[in-house]
Amino acid sequence: MTIQGNLVNGEQRELGALGTKVGAVSFGCWRFTGSDVQADTALIEHALDLGMNLVDTADVYGLDWGGSGFGANETALGDVLRGTPSLRDRMVLATKVGIVPGVPYVSDPAYLVQATEASLQRLGTDHVDLLQVHRPDPFTHPSLVAEALAGLCERGLVRSVGVSNHTPAQVRTLAAHLAQRGLSLATSQPEFSALRLNAMRDGSFDICMELGVTPMAWSPLSGGRLATGHNVPKALNAVLRQLASREGVSPAVIAVAFVLAHPARLVAVVGSQNPERLTELARARTVHLDRTDVYAIIQASDGASLP
Ligand SMILES: NC(=O)c1ccc[n+]([C@@H]2O[C@H](COP(=O)([O-])OP(=O)(O)OC[C@H]3O[C@@H](n4cnc5c(N)ncnc54)[C@H](OP(=O)(O)O)[C@@H]3O)[C@@H](O)[C@H]2O)c1
Repeated sequence: MTIQGNLVNGEQRELGALGTKVGAVSFGCWRFTGSDVQADTALIEHALDLGMNLVDTADVYGLDWGGSGFGANETALGDVLRGTPSLRDRMVLATKVGIVPGVPYVSDPAYLVQATEASLQRLGTDHVDLLQVHRPDPFTHPSLVAEALAGLCERGLVRSVGVSNHTPAQVRTLAAHLAQRGLSLATSQPEFSALRLNAMRDGSFDICMELGVTPMAWSPLSGGRLATGHNVPKALNAVLRQLASREGVSPAVIAVAFVLAHPARLVAVVGSQNPERLTELARARTVHLDRTDVYAIIQASDGASLP
């Protein structure tokens, strides 16, 4: 009987059609701005030990959140890999290109190629496992984006390709152009959390289930708000706290488990840079949430009962 069955799926996910296995909870590098390579190495090793083998960064990371500029976080991760090369084989390395400060979005094929080459240089690796177009640039025809991505794959610089912040229609169109070149779209990364439910309702996950694309949810704690409770509807905090107490975990763990409950089999990209919190968040994979629980979260987030 499945009405009260556990919806949380903590199993590894496969990246699109490639079959590369990644943890259901993965490590995000937006806030990876440290300049102490020893501490950075320990943090990456800790995340990998927890099964967070997908490491998600972007060329633009470092421009904000206390970083020292465009490319800085890739360079910091590259310093870790240059110091301890064995870590490269343990991770599924994902980066993103296509945001250019002051423009702000460029998917021109020559730019995508040049930006990817620059990322590889900073990361100190000869390929990334996943290259994502960070934001859609509607002024580049998707056939040209597909051509650039296919070229990077052919050169062995990129193992698989994905997108981020694309609408379902943009995902479908790019996937169709990639298919013409014999390539599939591996991932799509929208924002999704108990506070940001749009991706569940606007077709973002449906197109993933239709096309066999693996969704990755960015900011599953809404940047920490679901952990601290700041600027979160009272009712939502109350539900998260009540479920946390029942499951013997923190409200943050319940928030990540909620992301893992969707049948599109999302990868939750957590952003904590604190080893203890990462250990705690990894517990989301074993939390039990049934339909009553997830609908309680959704209704508390909406501030309204479902019809
Ligand atoms: N594709 C995109 O456009 C896009 C946009 C944004 C993010 N991302 C990706 O998503 C990743 C995660 O984003 P995010 O950093 O906003 O994720 P998040 O997991 O929603 O938030 C992490 C933040 O919450 C804080 N936090 C406070 N209390 C916490 C607790 N008890 N447990 C855990 N964290 C707590 C963390 O601080 P501490 O470090 O002190 O724990 C950290 O600053 C990024 O690294 C990036 O890879 C992608």
